[in-house]
Amino acid sequence: MIITVDGTAGSGKSTTAKLVAQRLGYKYIDSGATYRALAFLVKKNGIDPKDENEVVGLSEKLELNFNEGRAILDGEDVTEQIRNEEIGKLASFCSIYKRVRENMVALQHRLADEENVVCEGRDIGTVVFPDAEVKFYIDASIKERAKRRRKELLERGIHKKTSDIEKDIGERDLQDKTRVHSPLCVPEGAVVINTTNLSIEEEVEEVIKIIKDSKIQRFKD
Ligand code: DC
Repeated sequence: MIITVDGTAGSGKSTTAKLVAQRLGYKYIDSGATYRALAFLVKKNGIDPKDENEVVGLSEKLELNFNEGRAILDGEDVTEQIRNEEIGKLASFCSIYKRVRENMVALQHRLADEENVVCEGRDIGTVVFPDAEVKFYIDASIKERAKRRRKELLERGIHKKTSDIEKDIGERDLQDKTRVHSPLCVPEGAVVINTTNLSIEEEVEEVIKIIKDSKIQRFKD
């Protein structure tokens, strides 16, 4: 059983996907972490992200694993280091290259080595697992997403103006939705959930209900 969760930055898709996987006892795969790990290597090696061949070269060798939710890159725990806006932006930039995407998709397939998986990202229902049993697309208004991101940053002791966060999110949406190769869009057959007025608990409940209903439906068919 493969469940895909795609959506915009700050829509709540990661938290939801993680909690749904926990509730169902499925493996959780954060595909964004693969692009973030690549961005981390680009920065660490002082590579110009505009140099496609160099970025592709790094993506070929990249090996990322998850150990109890921690992101391990070549033996190094990079969980915290890949979770900042600079790396997010760089990940979005590096993700425009076709050959980078092919290497990341191959890595994501290797990570999904179990039968039951919840995989989250921006091209999962369209490209990575187009035949997934249940697909979701999660979105929320940009104002609400910026508000949530601000709260999350404050909890980590980082102060940032909501207007600046809104600008960052808007730029990332635009880059991810307009890139030539596998742009972010609603996958065919996906259930679209707008979480602007939903709490995380309500969102998780709704997703679980849809998955259960779809299982019953398939059993009947
Ligand atoms: O979900 P995230 O913020 O961790 O993702 C960071 C960037 O990685 C995102 O802006 C674009 C890229 N990405 C992608 O192109 N395809 C995915 N499936 C996941 C992430």
